[in-house]
Amino acid sequence: MHQFDLKNRTSIITGGAQGFGLNIAKRFLNSGGKVIIWDIDENELLKASKELDNSNLSFNVVDVSNYNQVKVAVDKIIKNSNIDILINNAGITGSTASLWEYDIEEWNKIVNINLMGTFNCCKCVVPNMIKNNYGRIVNVASVAGKDGNANASAYSSAKAGVIGLTKSLGKELADKNIAVNAITPAGAKTRILKQMSKEHVARMLSKVPRGRFLEIEEFTSLICWLSSEENSFSTAAIFDISGGRSTY
Ligand SMILES: NC(=O)c1ccc[n+]([C@@H]2O[C@H](COP(=O)([O-])OP(=O)(O)OC[C@H]3O[C@@H](n4cnc5c(N)ncnc54)[C@H](O)[C@@H]3O)[C@@H](O)[C@H]2O)c1
Repeated sequence: MHQFDLKNRTSIITGGAQGFGLNIAKRFLNSGGKVIIWDIDENELLKASKELDNSNLSFNVVDVSNYNQVKVAVDKIIKNSNIDILINNAGITGSTASLWEYDIEEWNKIVNINLMGTFNCCKCVVPNMIKNNYGRIVNVASVAGKDGNANASAYSSAKAGVIGLTKSLGKELADKNIAVNAITPAGAKTRILKQMSKEHVARMLSKVPRGRFLEIEEFTSLICWLSSEENSFSTAAIFDISGGRSTY
């Protein structure tokens, strides 16, 4: 697999204990980077650290929807190191139901993790990137944020919010060597699919002209380029990886 040069680059990957995030951590470590994984699930974090078994890896239990937890974790890191790369990947879809039947607490939780979590991490990390005039931020949105999936109004709204946040922050930082981009994947076989009904997942798949799920490694390849120094121009942009589903 093609390697990007991430030597001496420190990254935070949120929601990195499994699924997409764990695969990103693997590629970043193989590319010579230092990786800090944050996740809310301590058991999965312990499993991931055993699996990755790398002295350049550290991990913490951090709930990205909790601003204070994020701030404390960032302040601890920047005592010893800069933060070069931030991957806002932590997310949940929540269950599938029509908007008028959606549980209000669950709706808020979905928006808090996907959108406020991305805001909290950017807010705490960006000042360090500005100080060093270097940074690469990749926000993991979803094709749902562009198209709006029926019976997933909270998730679609939160991911549309992540797209807006990315375009806005990217422009705010465009005069510095800091790139802020988002990607909009179609469905991939990770644990997150279990949160939705089988019918909903089948409907998602039926909309993809490629006719199959996105492979996790295909997702990570795009993340690697966006996170590398080689991406020195693209910013405030939304990169499609939906197998032909999105028309814009
Ligand atoms: N898999 C897909 O089909 C798909 C498609 C489009 C977008 N995405 C997005 O990709 C990202 C990763 O999802 P995945 O498919 O790897 O799912 P996953 O469930 O395998 O992994 C998500 C991780 O995020 C962690 N997490 C959840 N809430 C958290 C919080 N509050 N703070 C910190 N960590 C938290 C979970 O513990 C888990 O380890 C999500 O943002 C998701 O919305 C996934």
